Amino acid sequence: MRELKILAIVIFFTALTYWGVEPYAHSQMHPHVAPADFSFKDIQPLALNGNSENGKTLVEANCIACHSIKSLGFEAPMSNDDAASAYGVVPPDLSHAGVIYDNNYLSGFLKDPVSATKLSHKFGDAKPYAMPSYSFLSNQEVADIVAYLKNIVATKPTDKMVFEEACGRCHSMKYDGTKAQTSSVFMKNYLGAEAPDVSMMIRSKKAEYLTTFINEPLKMVEGIAMPRVGLTEASQAQVIAYMEHVGDRKKAEREDLGLNLIGFMAIFTLIAYMWKVRIWKEVA
Ligand code: HEC
Ligand code: HEC
Repeated sequence: MRELKILAIVIFFTALTYWGVEPYAHSQMHPHVAPADFSFKDIQPLALNGNSENGKTLVEANCIACHSIKSLGFEAPMSNDDAASAYGVVPPDLSHAGVIYDNNYLSGFLKDPVSATKLSHKFGDAKPYAMPSYSFLSNQEVADIVAYLKNIVATKPTDKMVFEEACGRCHSMKYDGTKAQTSSVFMKNYLGAEAPDVSMMIRSKKAEYLTTFINEPLKMVEGIAMPRVGLTEASQAQVIAYMEHVGDRKKAEREDLGLNLIGFMAIFTLIAYMWKVRIWKEVA
């Protein structure tokens, strides 16, 4: 009985520290930031049904001059280095743009890329953003482009493809053998900062930080040069899963081992208890 009381007290104080004191101390040391916003509330939704046929015409006339759409056989019009030197950064492939970026974000981005990416501290009239703004198109035309980009996605992209299309123009993933499409000389010129290799970022920054950071970098790091990329919640989860796969391959193994260890301790406790009962029976 006495042991049970001690156990209850230990459990009580452990729980108090874990759910009470630690979160409190944490919130004091790291002030709360608003959680990731996957509805992109700052962007006015178009609320229009797009016409994919018309979108096709618009995309072929406007976008494939710079972007590849490999799933449809449109290859990049120039080499990565030529593209980076012409625009500042390599334009991403658009094969899955319709599903990896949020609809709302995508239309906001086409109309005003600097506001959508939250890069007004980097770009303005003096230094233009690498991609032209399509503010001269009507809202209906923008909705048509978004509808077309959604329509051409036949299969869900893999985690790696989402990373390549959304982040691969700036970031290397060395441990998976991929180099940033834009070489670092151009990158530095374009954003004023080099984009770090992200192979081990999942360990140094942790998934929780990355979830908020990727959704809106400026919220986590003041003045950072990394753009908001506008991923949907699902595709952002795919990017993080990929980073976990590359940077922390042993995670599943470790978690399995943890469970086995807990099982072993439970059985061992039971045996120890039975042994104690037996010894004391003889003594008494
Ligand atoms: C003059 C070349 C050029 C043209 C034309 C162009 N783009 Fe881009 N686009 C770029 C570059 C360069 C980037 C990368 C910009 C960056 O990362 O700062 C980009 C980025 C993007 C992105 C990624 C957005 C994000 O948040 O990461 C999308 C989506 C996109 N373009 C769609 C389009 C569509 C749709 C069209 C046609 C209506 C188009 N682009 C026309 C050069 C171009
Ligand atoms: C247009 C280029 C560009 C794109 C696209 C981009 N990043 Fe970045 N990112 C940067 C730059 C530049 C920095 C470093 C900024 C600095 O140090 O000021 C950075 C920093 C980071 C960091 C470090 C954060 C920290 O706290 O130090 C992470 C993690 C990251 N990016 C992840 C991603 C992921 C994941 C994607 C795709 C969803 C992505 N980035 C897309 C340019 C980019």
